[in-house]
Amino acid sequence: MWWKIFGLVSCIKLLLMEAYKSTDFEVHRNWLAMTHSLPLNQWYVNDTSIWTLDYPPFFAWFEYFWSLAARLVDPEMLLVSNLNYDSRATVFFQRSTVIISDIVLALGAKKLSHYLCAHPLRKSSNQNHKWFSPSTVFLCLSLCNAGLLMVDHVHFQYNGILTGLLFLSIGEILEGNHELGAFYFSVLLNMKHIYLYVAPVYGVYLLRNHCWIEGKNGAFDVKKSLSKVGRLGTIFLLTTLVSFGPFIVHGQLFVVLRRLFPFKRGLCHSYWAPNFWVLYNIADKVLVILGRRLGWPLKEIRGSMTAGLVQEYPHTVLPSVTPGITLLLTVASMMPCLWKLWSHPGNPLHFVRSLIICAGCSFLFGWHVHEKAILIVILPLCFMAVLWRAEAECFLVVSLSGLYSLFPLLYPPEMLFVKAVLYLVFISYSFNSLQNLFRSRHPNSSFQFPLLNSFETIYAFGFSFLFVFEIVQLHKLSRLVSAYPFLYLMATSFYCSLGIIYGISRYYWNFLKTAPWKRKQKVF
Ligand SMILES: *[C@@H]1O[C@H](CO)[C@@H](O)[C@H](O)[C@H]1NC(C)=O
Repeated sequence: MWWKIFGLVSCIKLLLMEAYKSTDFEVHRNWLAMTHSLPLNQWYVNDTSIWTLDYPPFFAWFEYFWSLAARLVDPEMLLVSNLNYDSRATVFFQRSTVIISDIVLALGAKKLSHYLCAHPLRKSSNQNHKWFSPSTVFLCLSLCNAGLLMVDHVHFQYNGILTGLLFLSIGEILEGNHELGAFYFSVLLNMKHIYLYVAPVYGVYLLRNHCWIEGKNGAFDVKKSLSKVGRLGTIFLLTTLVSFGPFIVHGQLFVVLRRLFPFKRGLCHSYWAPNFWVLYNIADKVLVILGRRLGWPLKEIRGSMTAGLVQEYPHTVLPSVTPGITLLLTVASMMPCLWKLWSHPGNPLHFVRSLIICAGCSFLFGWHVHEKAILIVILPLCFMAVLWRAEAECFLVVSLSGLYSLFPLLYPPEMLFVKAVLYLVFISYSFNSLQNLFRSRHPNSSFQFPLLNSFETIYAFGFSFLFVFEIVQLHKLSRLVSAYPFLYLMATSFYCSLGIIYGISRYYWNFLKTAPWKRKQKVF
């Protein structure tokens, strides 16, 4: 089943090859060139292009691996000085590397779908029809995810392979192969360090469920527990050593680390990711307007965050936010979840839920969050969505708003149609397939409880107004809108942030109160 779906969606990806590509395309071309043409000690140093290497070393090796094939396709793309080079062959080649490396995503999704088949956590009402089974629905939601298609195959990134590694890791942990799961996660961390945000979940879960050994009399067995911690630590350290080792040999450890953690960037990305800080920024703006009316003594604003630059924005009325504050808020918001994970051992699904929640917390409160990071929440949520109704409901709300929030990434007018189709097809499929999975189990009852309540349905329809707003903006149909070019972006961030904050909070709340799905688990 998985390879059929993977094959079909790969064809769609081929169709997107000629579509708009963002500067991330040039970022990865430059990384191909640098890893191929420069000696190792130059990889994290050379700044011929402004798009310097800022992913951990395994990703650099990944680029190096592809550059070996790139040589055969068009050697010109491997010249460091060849900035913004995008011959047809180059585009074709780089697009293909994303499509091919998505095999890892397919393998990860296959692993999780096998888990769903082997552990029938819910008896689907259509168990006999494999296209409607929970495992197939999960495969479609993840492999054909509109977010991945938009970000990886139009905008250009490699989230597929990263998600694949995450899925493989989750799959191993669900099956109790904790050490293998930890290994996959270590590899993932060494490819993209954004996953550090969910590392606490791995730490807490593995310490409690893998390392915590009680002896025969129920007492804590220090020696055995410590040896387990030691083994896990060794796995992580060895992986990281293989990754960073060559750079440590060149005395470049700090050079690399400084590239990986650039704290000079501002609170928000040029386009505000729809999180808590959007509400904060907007509150600040509203207070400024209010203050001017009421004649408050306000300091002068130096730059506007909507100016489209990655820079620090001074809040005028509300206190300015520092990286320390965002870190504190992120960690604090994760605490109740981690506590629950620690105090309710023996439930691997709680591990997946905590992963989703902690990714959500860091999305909501993190420093310089990209809108694309919502995929780290949405993709694992695809797995939980096919299991319990309450989680499917959260998945729908978060997908509706999170995927729409990716629209500004694909801003050229010719992308309007593409993104609208991807979004609508995916959302319709999600609604239909999940509604079908969770339809009433009483054969006589034709009534289906809708997955969204009326309030959420009204919210969902609001996106059509946003879309009209975008069309008006793009085609300059209204002078009022043209005069304030950032109004649309701000409206999108604001509207999407409502859904995302609501969806994640609801999911969090469900997890914290003695899980409603625990009760249901017995029914099925
Ligand atoms: C980067 O590499 C190019 C090409 O080899 C070289 O000309 C340039 O001097 C290097 N720049 C730095 C800062 O090392």
